[in-house]
Amino acid sequence: MKDKEFYIKYKELQYDDLKEIDKTLISKALDAAKNAYAPYSNFRVGAAVLLKDGLIVTGNNQENAAYPSGLCAERVALFYANANYPNTVVDSIIIVVINHDDKIVPQTISPCGSCRQVIAETEMRYKNNIRILLASENHILEFNSISDLLPFSFSQKDLLKY
Ligand code: THU
Repeated sequence: MKDKEFYIKYKELQYDDLKEIDKTLISKALDAAKNAYAPYSNFRVGAAVLLKDGLIVTGNNQENAAYPSGLCAERVALFYANANYPNTVVDSIIIVVINHDDKIVPQTISPCGSCRQVIAETEMRYKNNIRILLASENHILEFNSISDLLPFSFSQKDLLKY
């Protein structure tokens, strides 16, 4: 038996530390969250995806009375980006959740497992790490790759083995 350890790297940033582009991305994700369709959970999420050519695509969660038919903000934004700009590499994704006053909530929210899997697929598709920013009211967590949020992920490499 061998004990093994796995380190996850991420940064905690303050709003003053952010580059202008990241401030813009958070503001766009916040605007997107305001348009979320979340009448069942009242949990409004916004995501902004930055493409390598500088284009920003946003999305928000879309719910449905048949609950599983809805989709998270991250996947709405990423699928839109990949559907419309299939040849443009995804650089970053920014995620925010807002409260009833349209303000970013005090805690960062982590993407769900399915969204992590889709971010992992997008990294693999474009052979490029995707930077992930999770923004709260006062601080931002920055991950350089989905491998720090979804270690040991299932991927195309596993399918191709057999
Ligand atoms: N949701 C997201 O949009 N992103 C996440 O990462 C977590 C959850 C949505 C799905 C659902 O509409 C609501 O938040 C409550 O789970």
